[in-house]
Amino acid sequence: MPLDAPRNELDLSAWWMPFTANRQFKDAPRLFSHAAGMYYRTADGRQVLDGTAGLWCVNAGHGRAEIAEAVHRQLMELDYAPPFQMGHPGAFELAARLAKLAPAGLDRVFFANSGSESVDTALKIAFAYHRARGEGHRTRLIGRERGYHGVGFGGVSVGGLVNNRRMFPTLPAVDHLSHTHQPALNAFSVGQPEHGADLADELERLAALHGGETIAAVIVEPVAGSGGVLPPPKGYLERLRALCDKHGTLLIFDEVITGFGRTGAPFASQRLGVTPDIMTTAKGVTNGVVPMGAVFVKRQIHDAFMQGPPEAIEFFHGYTYSGHPVACAAGLATLEIYGREGLLTRALELEGAFAEAIHALRDAPHVTDIRNFGLMGAIDLAPRPGKPGGRGYDVLLGALGRGALVRASGDTLAFSPPLIVSQAQIGELFETVRAVLATVD
Ligand SMILES: Cc1ncc(COP(=O)(O)O)c(C=O)c1O
Repeated sequence: MPLDAPRNELDLSAWWMPFTANRQFKDAPRLFSHAAGMYYRTADGRQVLDGTAGLWCVNAGHGRAEIAEAVHRQLMELDYAPPFQMGHPGAFELAARLAKLAPAGLDRVFFANSGSESVDTALKIAFAYHRARGEGHRTRLIGRERGYHGVGFGGVSVGGLVNNRRMFPTLPAVDHLSHTHQPALNAFSVGQPEHGADLADELERLAALHGGETIAAVIVEPVAGSGGVLPPPKGYLERLRALCDKHGTLLIFDEVITGFGRTGAPFASQRLGVTPDIMTTAKGVTNGVVPMGAVFVKRQIHDAFMQGPPEAIEFFHGYTYSGHPVACAAGLATLEIYGREGLLTRALELEGAFAEAIHALRDAPHVTDIRNFGLMGAIDLAPRPGKPGGRGYDVLLGALGRGALVRASGDTLAFSPPLIVSQAQIGELFETVRAVLATVD
């Protein structure tokens, strides 16, 4: 049957889907039609346990009436206000609330509309900050292999996933640290692995190669997410912080996934005790229901821009929808829920049960490594010879068939349930995966 033929009266041909095998999907579509609490409902009426918080974003669970009501109220009151040279109270209110949650000193907030925009904003702030201080020669960026920083040209350039990079030109002055996955040393680590702090010393090598004074910023996810859930080796982030300080380089943490409670603290930097200079967030800031990104910046970086005549625009950057009133209303209602229900620290309480449940799959067929941190986890499967990704995809389908949503990135399965998940649901999720693994060749 041609792909553009209507199926059940729904024409699937026009939407070119992102990061999706379009032809395979449209041949056998998987459609959600409703969601509430921990569960999705499929278009054909089956209930599916959400093991991934949508796409690492629905931290307070689905269908939160309070957020919906706040969005509706906002739309009726003030649907849109331009953010250039004008403002509205919600954006200031949300920025102030976020600043109170932020790691120490990062109390200035720039709004964007996605993780990708947050990352490109952060990189531009880094360049412009150095320029404002007379260090415009800092034009180099350092990312990390297996890092994911969204899909803007800046984010792809500092990112470290080959399939996201190989089709496009990237920024010229970018280098990468090695990733921190060392299964020969750290396989089946519970939480932060013991070995690999020394990998941060590669920054010293790159500084010696390029000149430390040419590096504007180093960007890493404190816990790599899309690259396979890689918690930082013990001591690694501390060393990276020290080397950035030594070379006058800004340290950017991309907390688009790890922000808003995913690791058991509002932000992973607080959980891990290492403070960056700039922090990018998105996703959980609005519980995933309205697109938004928020870049947190150290006050002295912000203040370095506030030097010229007061009538001069300090930073030539921003988006039509920066601080959109509807996103701000969703963000404020989301923070209210997170605070009232203790969700920003709940992952710490559940971490032990989650670790036990995921690591119990160690003896399941095909499993080669398991990692966890907070309410993030990953299971690596041995790829089928000559068919990488096939086994991961079959587990995704099998789990869906048994009522659980998991994420398959190649042959790595990733898990990040909403922070409202119960211990019983954690058990249910991994028992489902165990049952599926027993059936997958
Ligand atoms: C660490 C990180 N940065 C950036 C992004 C990009 O976010 P978005 O898809 O909202 O542009 C993601 C998305 O998963 C992410 O995980």
